Amino acid sequence: MKILSGTSNLKLSKNIAKNLKLKLINTNIRRFADGEIYIEINENIRGNSVFVIQSTSNPANDNLMELLLVIDALKRSSAKTITAVIPYFGYARQDRKVAPRTSISAKVVANLLTNAGANRIVTVDLHAGQIQGFFDMPVDNLFTTPLFSKFIKRKISSKRLICVSPDMGGVARTRALATRLKADLAIIDKRRPAPGKSQVMNIIGDVENKTCIIVDDIIDSGGTIVNAVDALKKKGAKEVFVFITHAVLSGEAAKKIKSSKIKKLIITDSIDNSNKIKNNNKIEVLSIASLMSEAIKRIANSNSVSDLFN
Ligand code: R5P
Repeated sequence: MKILSGTSNLKLSKNIAKNLKLKLINTNIRRFADGEIYIEINENIRGNSVFVIQSTSNPANDNLMELLLVIDALKRSSAKTITAVIPYFGYARQDRKVAPRTSISAKVVANLLTNAGANRIVTVDLHAGQIQGFFDMPVDNLFTTPLFSKFIKRKISSKRLICVSPDMGGVARTRALATRLKADLAIIDKRRPAPGKSQVMNIIGDVENKTCIIVDDIIDSGGTIVNAVDALKKKGAKEVFVFITHAVLSGEAAKKIKSSKIKKLIITDSIDNSNKIKNNNKIEVLSIASLMSEAIKRIANSNSVSDLFN
């Protein structure tokens, strides 16, 4: 087994490799002056099971293209199997036709990965579980719920906890966390009047004087979360903690969080945000490196991955 890292999140790749007591494959990944990507693998990988780690985060298209070219280089170098480990799977939010004449980008990405030569996908908190069906190969979707629930049990002492889904799409994820914490469940009825704009219509559940735990897969502009926190506070919530797997944090999102009523935003390192969150005392990072390395080890040894979540 060997590990190769793309350039999108080298810090996470190094931590995963360290946990597995492996060195990252020696590569040369460069950009030509016109932006085209050049990939060269500087060691023999013939007959190896190779795990390629690359989040397709911003710049999504460059990072995706880099991943495709790495997979192609591995295929042409006679790797035995190629597993694309994509901690943050970009384009996942475009998983169906939301309006006439729109593309299903998640399916296009699945086709690209398949055609490039991937044999297996490993990802974390996929936006919609059914994206696994876009692939005719195994897809291991890892969950952060155990990581988040351990953190909450250790660090948040409130006896009046309620888990809140920021929209209808997140109910299953939120219920899974509430079950682990033996907490209540509330749901926010969110609407999107226009792309990128969110509006809270209603809160289903009683949040008064409670410690609210919002859990979501993605924070992008921050609109969903900031509006949800405001609405919960208006309904009498005591404090609001937010747990997000993929911190896209586009534009002014990190600033918005800093000046919001959020008690703490806990994100993972599926996307490297080291620069964006410097000096932001409202944001804390929980690493998924152990989760990912344990899953990779189990896959390489043909052991159960789902056991990780029992
Ligand atoms: C949507 O279904 C996702 O789960 C997130 O709630 C959404 O992507 C967050 O976007 P924003 O931070 O821009 O409101």
